[in-house]
Amino acid sequence: MNPTTEILLDTAFKKDVYQGLSSFPKYLYSKYIYDATGDKLFQDIMALPEYYLTNCEFEILSTYTSEIAELFRGQGKGFDLIELGAGDGKKTKVLLKHLSDQEFNFIYKPIDISQNAIDDLTKTLSKELPKVRVDPEKGMYFEVLDRLKHYDSRKKVLMVLGSNIGNLLHPRAIEFLTQLKNVMNPNDLLFMGFDQKKHPQTILDAYNDPKGVTASFNKNLLHRINRELGGQFDVDKFKHWEVYDPETGTAKSYLVAKEAMKVRIEALDLNISFDAWETIHTEISQKYDDKIVAWLAKEAGLLVATSFTDSKHYYKNYIFRKNK
Ligand code: AVJ
Repeated sequence: MNPTTEILLDTAFKKDVYQGLSSFPKYLYSKYIYDATGDKLFQDIMALPEYYLTNCEFEILSTYTSEIAELFRGQGKGFDLIELGAGDGKKTKVLLKHLSDQEFNFIYKPIDISQNAIDDLTKTLSKELPKVRVDPEKGMYFEVLDRLKHYDSRKKVLMVLGSNIGNLLHPRAIEFLTQLKNVMNPNDLLFMGFDQKKHPQTILDAYNDPKGVTASFNKNLLHRINRELGGQFDVDKFKHWEVYDPETGTAKSYLVAKEAMKVRIEALDLNISFDAWETIHTEISQKYDDKIVAWLAKEAGLLVATSFTDSKHYYKNYIFRKNK
């Protein structure tokens, strides 16, 4: 990048789009899917029959509510339940209802990058579970984690649901887990969802729905570039393509150019050429098993205390402690 482009690239979004589309092979980061349209499309994905992850995690939280709650219970002083990427909190509410009904001493601190999600969740919680003390915070995982270091007057339970870690390649997942470990004290817990390896077709179907919601979700990246960066993508000229490698457990999403074309992105002063059938890699959704999770934990200085799974064994929620 020369000095002129540096002046143009004044946001992380611009910089990442510039770099991703100037690389070979081309890529875009999946985190940029989630603007207001992307958030809505992800809600639609969670309602798809093929997208089993949400229902499985809901089943786990509903089946093992009291076991999980007992593990969370702090001695005497209670605990702080801190959820990263809280979203609409549909699954968390099952747990919160139990904690509230059983009069656990706790506060719930939902953290999300979307102010909208935070506001909606706070509003519905004050109606549905008025006794729960909610202390929401808007921010990105890593910023907020830094501030959480000083949050240690009593037991902390960190919670990350939805297999959100699956968007990270293993080295970055280890970094993420390490940062979580670094804010934990010896009695603190990390409660986290990991989608499991299973029949490859089941996984492929979850990321390749016939209604095309997942395709629209991925294509929102191009629409967003058009909307925010003056991009001139003809989005219909791209095909969403999903692959799953059962050896590595990695589902990968692509947008494939159906013909050769040039695309201008005004705000980046950039012209991109696509050959016919050239790809843009948009997302990974990693699948796990106990061995991989134990290895990730060990690399991050954590250990698996216990885990819960659904009746089909499609999904698992693990409880981690700090490894002394
Ligand atoms: C929110 C990252 C867990 O990878 O399963 C859903 C996002 N992508 N369908 C996932 C997603 C396509 C989802 N995560």
